[in-house]
Amino acid sequence: MASKPTPKLIAWLIIPSCLLIFFYSTLLPLYTTTRTPGSPTSKIPLLPSAPCDLFKGHWDFDPNRKPMCDSTCPFHRNAWNCIRNQRENMDRINSWKWVPERCDLNRVDPGGFLSLMRDKNIGFVGDSLNENFLVSFLCVLRVGDGGAKKWKRKGAWRGAYFPKFNVTVAYHRAVLLAKYEWQTKQPKLSGQDGVKGIYRVDVDIPAPDWANIDDFYDVLIFNTGHWWGYDKFPKESPLVFYKGGQPIHPSLEMMDGFKVVVENMVAHIEKVFPQKVLKFWRLQSPRHFHSGDWNQNGSCLFDEPLEEFQLDLWFDPSNNGVNKEARKLNHLIEETLKGTSIRPLDLTHLSEFRADAHPAIWLGKKDAVSVWGQDCMHWCLPGVPDTWVDILTQLIGYNLETG
Ligand SMILES: *[C@@H]1O[C@H](CO)[C@@H](O)[C@H](O)[C@H]1NC(C)=O
Ligand SMILES: *[C@@H]1O[C@H](CO)[C@@H](O)[C@H](O)[C@H]1NC(C)=O
Repeated sequence: MASKPTPKLIAWLIIPSCLLIFFYSTLLPLYTTTRTPGSPTSKIPLLPSAPCDLFKGHWDFDPNRKPMCDSTCPFHRNAWNCIRNQRENMDRINSWKWVPERCDLNRVDPGGFLSLMRDKNIGFVGDSLNENFLVSFLCVLRVGDGGAKKWKRKGAWRGAYFPKFNVTVAYHRAVLLAKYEWQTKQPKLSGQDGVKGIYRVDVDIPAPDWANIDDFYDVLIFNTGHWWGYDKFPKESPLVFYKGGQPIHPSLEMMDGFKVVVENMVAHIEKVFPQKVLKFWRLQSPRHFHSGDWNQNGSCLFDEPLEEFQLDLWFDPSNNGVNKEARKLNHLIEETLKGTSIRPLDLTHLSEFRADAHPAIWLGKKDAVSVWGQDCMHWCLPGVPDTWVDILTQLIGYNLETG
């Protein structure tokens, strides 16, 4: 006769079973087995639906982590080619790994991603921070197709063609997204002495560099933001906003103009690109000027990422710091994107930590720092934008595979 199991034994059997059931039921829904770049058996976390948010997390130091590309990538821009420019700490900069709160961020598999994108094209439209992003993307993808060639057409400033997969990835420079042009002094601008002329911004007309790309791209990544300041457009040569060919009355301050341009460009994007084009809007890339703005000897000679508790002090607009504009602009952009088919690519928070990863004084040119100040705005490559690439490719992969 079988002896009755003791209560202790029952507990020993039940507790592990419950734990197993709990873990499987909690974790399994996060994963789906799909056709994944390169390896048919690997698993991609289900994104971007809850509970996984790739944009929240922390940076972990991993001394074994190595960047995918070096200083020899033919798509580099000299000023961001930090290995060539002998920036200090490049190994350390590239040893930090972004760890989202509730899921893994896989590193992109360049060949696998390109094969997923076969016969498709990806376009970046915006300012030099999107170009920074593009260069990282091209240098990483090149690992998957050594035959990558420079590509320049259709208003694109630069890009690459990946012949093995028939994929083009390119950048269209349009710093305000909307069309703008210089006009010498207008008689109408009475009472504004000292004004040499204006930059006329047509809020409802896209800049010519991307006005005719309608059916070429399958994925688009937009941004604007870094040019919306009085250093680029001072009072003597202000932005003046036009709509429907007429000046907007009363005239708009820069931030109000920014909002109107974003609203109009979003409406334009929604109208001209079909639903099947995957559209992203990259939120602001934060700057890290410390103890002064870019033209006041501001510097970013940091060895370590910032700590989480420092971020608000640096970036919260209420603290009125030098770098407060990123969150302010993001707020306006996010409001406008609500309810549209354009997905926010919120790379701001993860980048806020990385005060250590800008070119700073290592710009590859002798007098660059004395003329321009340190570069605490763009990013070293390889560097932080490689993590942006991991996130973007994961989101593209997810969206293409789930329709
Ligand atoms: C390459 O891709 C384009 C779409 O971007 C397509 O129209 C073209 O037919 C493809 N070429 C080849 C050789 O498959
Ligand atoms: C920046 O540094 C230079 C040289 O140290 C100095 O001459 C200049 O006054 C500084 N500028 C500002 C705005 O602090």
